[in-house]
Amino acid sequence: MSPRTSLLLFWSLFVLGSAPAQAAYTWIPSAPPQEIEARLARVQADAGAHKAAIAAGKRAAFFCVNCHGETGVSALDNMPNLAGQNAFYLLTQIDKFGDGRRKDAFMSGLVKVLKPDDRFNIAVFYASQPVPPTPAKNPVQAAAAGKHFARACLGCHGVKAYGTREVARLAGQRSAYLIATLKNYRSGSGLRSDSRMTGVAQKLSDAEIVALAAYLGALP
Ligand code: HEC
Ligand code: HEC
Repeated sequence: MSPRTSLLLFWSLFVLGSAPAQAAYTWIPSAPPQEIEARLARVQADAGAHKAAIAAGKRAAFFCVNCHGETGVSALDNMPNLAGQNAFYLLTQIDKFGDGRRKDAFMSGLVKVLKPDDRFNIAVFYASQPVPPTPAKNPVQAAAAGKHFARACLGCHGVKAYGTREVARLAGQRSAYLIATLKNYRSGSGLRSDSRMTGVAQKLSDAEIVALAAYLGALP
C-alpha cells in the first residue's frame, strides 16, 4: 500500500472512530494483567510463536507507520518511538487510550479499530524492534540530568531506563515527546494521568524536564 493510500485509510478510520454514530462505542479491555503476562511469557518462550506474533503485529500495524515509523522508530521528535518499548506497557497504553484514561486527538480514535488480538501482536512486534538513541546536543546538561535520574527515577525505571512491565522504557525515547509527556503529567489536564508519575512530575521544573529528556533520549 502506498503511504498516500494508507494515510487516507487511517484518516477515514479516525473519522469513523470519533463520529457521533459511534458514541455508544464500548472499549473491550485487553485480558487481565496476569493473563497478558502469561501469554507474553508463552510467546517469548516459543521461537515459532514469537515469530508469528511479530509477523501478525507488523501486518496489523500497517497504518501506524505513518507516525511511528516502519519499525516503531518515529520520524518526528514529538511522536513516541514504540520500538524496544515493553510489550505490557504498550498494551496498557492502548487500553488507556481506548477507555479514556489517556487522551490524544489521534490515538484515542485510532485504537478503536484494533481487536484485542491485534493489540497483543502489535505490542509483541514493536517490543522486538531495536531503538537507536539520539545523541545529546549538550553532554554537560545530560550528565547533570543523569544524577537527577539516578536520584528520582531509577527506582522505578531501572538503572538503564529500560522500565519493567507497566513502567515505560525511557532510554532512546524522543526528547520532544518526553518533554510534552512530563508536562502533561505535571499539569493534571487528564491527557496523561498516573498516580505514580503525577507526584514525580509535579516536582520537576521546566529546565529539569528539558535536561532529563536530553539525557534519556541519548541513552542506548
Ligand atoms: C496520526 C499519527 C499517529 C498514528 C497513525 C498512530 N499514532 Fe500512536 N501516537 C501518536 C502520538 C502523537 C502519540 C503520543 C500521544 C501523547 O502525547 O500522549 C502516540 C502514542 C502512542 C502510544 C503510547 C506510546 C508511549 O510511549 O506511551 C502507543 C502505544 C501508540 N501510539 C500506538 C499506536 C498504534 C498501535 C498505532 C496504529 C494502530 C498508532 N499508534 C498510530 C500518533 C499516532
Ligand atoms: C514510583 C515509580 C516511578 C517513578 C519514581 C518515576 N516513574 Fe516515570 N513512570 C512510572 C510509570 C508506572 C509509568 C507509566 C504510567 C502511565 O501508564 O502513564 C511512567 C511513565 C513515565 C513516562 C512516560 C513514558 C512514555 O513512553 O510515554 C515518562 C516520560 C517518565 N515516566 C519519566 C520519569 C522521570 C523523568 C522520572 C524521574 C524524575 C520518573 N519517571 C520517575 C513510574 C515511575
